[in-house]
Amino acid sequence: MTRGLRRKLTSYGDQEFSLFLRKAFIKAMGFSDDALDRPIIGIANTYSDYNPCHGNVPQLIEAAKRGVMLAGGLPMVFPTMSIHESFASPTSMYLRNLMAMETEEMVRAQPMDAVILIGGCDKTIPAQMMAAASSEVPAIILPTGPMATGSHKGERLGACTDCRRIWGKFRAGEIDEEEVGLINGRLVSSVGTCTVMGTASTMACLAEAMGLALPMSGSAPATSAERFRLAEETGCTAVGLAEADGPVAADLMTPQAFRNGLAVLQALGGSTNGVVHLAAIAGRLGRRLDLAELDAIGRKVPVLVDLKPSGVAYMGEFHEAGGVPRLLTELNDVLDRTARTVSGQTIGDVIDAVPPRHEEAIIRRRDDPVAPAGAIAVLAGNLAPRGAVIKHSAASEELQVHEGRAIVFDSVEDMALRLDDDAIDIGAEDVLVLRNAGPRGAPGMPEAGYIPIPRRLARKGVKDMVRISDARMSGTAFGTVILHVTPEAADGGPLAIVRTGDRIRLDVPARRLDLMIADDEFARRIKSLPKVPPSGSRGYAGLYDRHVLQADEGVDFDFLRAERDG
Ligand code: FES
Ligand code: MG
Repeated sequence: MTRGLRRKLTSYGDQEFSLFLRKAFIKAMGFSDDALDRPIIGIANTYSDYNPCHGNVPQLIEAAKRGVMLAGGLPMVFPTMSIHESFASPTSMYLRNLMAMETEEMVRAQPMDAVILIGGCDKTIPAQMMAAASSEVPAIILPTGPMATGSHKGERLGACTDCRRIWGKFRAGEIDEEEVGLINGRLVSSVGTCTVMGTASTMACLAEAMGLALPMSGSAPATSAERFRLAEETGCTAVGLAEADGPVAADLMTPQAFRNGLAVLQALGGSTNGVVHLAAIAGRLGRRLDLAELDAIGRKVPVLVDLKPSGVAYMGEFHEAGGVPRLLTELNDVLDRTARTVSGQTIGDVIDAVPPRHEEAIIRRRDDPVAPAGAIAVLAGNLAPRGAVIKHSAASEELQVHEGRAIVFDSVEDMALRLDDDAIDIGAEDVLVLRNAGPRGAPGMPEAGYIPIPRRLARKGVKDMVRISDARMSGTAFGTVILHVTPEAADGGPLAIVRTGDRIRLDVPARRLDLMIADDEFARRIKSLPKVPPSGSRGYAGLYDRHVLQADEGVDFDFLRAERDG
């Protein structure tokens, strides 16, 4: 039974008077008693002039409202914050928890029987899934969808794997300033999220695979009619959720749903950031994301989706090939078919409704994968006591087992200052180490882990080197890049003791990352590390520094996690 305007009445003694006031005010907006008597569906508006990935949100809201009204509900649009990758300083990740808190509290504070959360750009769907996991209001995610691709001299372009590739060519002197300027206007040719399997696409697809968004809504292009029809259907579905008073996100995101999510993450060639976000969402439900399980699933489930950065295609082709539901059919044997979704269907029902296959190239069969193993491997070793990750599907084969001399950069600033300095002695065999770029160190765990190849080496044709950091990397990037080294250097992790000239050994098949120094020397250096005092900053910066958790706990705030199940 829906409660509509009666939800969350703050009565200071007289509930009926509070309702009387609430109705009086909302009627000022032109609502009739009849409208106010219906299930109320909140719609989180994340439109912002600073967020082109959300440029279609006004039209999506119109379509979702239509769906709500067709199903007999009352849509109520409300604003929440919006985060874009390029316009959030110091990093979008720094603000993700703030958006999660704000979304959770606005959903909780205002009367609504269900909520549609419209998100897209990298950190927004994770923030909304975290909010939904912590909320008692049924929620459905409506992704904004991927942008269109553009072209230059007959070559297709799409943000943002190609942004990096083009910039790499410019750094190497292969294209000049005029041409790079021309390409700049062609890389992002419509509103919508990055059109490769970066973090935005990964998280939209995971929301779908974990039952929080409608089938096909992880991939339908931002500007397509199908995207708007999905928005309408999302509105109808939200009314169904309101009328049945559930399920809520916590009911859907069971351990089985998470295991399904991990299999899909591996098969997608998904973003390493997906691991951090899933850990944060799990924490909201009182659970830890099992990194060993992620690794084990990756040994069973190969990369099947041939999208950049692991492969060649773009999100539009993935959608045409059948999107997440088609991918699920290939994972039938490893998925829990009984996991439920917002629409009332199980994942098994979604799989059974998939039309016959009409293509073999973009979503591969299990016996003909894009890469022999899953996208992400989890490393351990003396350098990463609580783990590190590598997207080995987008790394160089010949560097997966490699020992080299460490070249250490103490911070992102230090790296920017010295990396291209011809005076420092760096060779292609060396291992680039960046520290103090983790959750506390930078702060906000920037996507600095994709350390550029030093200009001098890039000009000689070096395309990849082993790079290690406590930072993150954009889901659209590629290379032999080890990320999320935990604990981070700024929290006393062993990355802090590495010295330029030390030897580091990477062995991806054995899942090891080790600093090759004697144990007693290792212990002595750890002991001599200075203690890092908590920041004395005011406001959000202070809150962030005092409460942020490490990557294995999703970089969430300690006070936002649910009590442990045990
Ligand atoms: Fe928004 Fe890539 S910048 S999804
Ligand atoms: Mg990104």
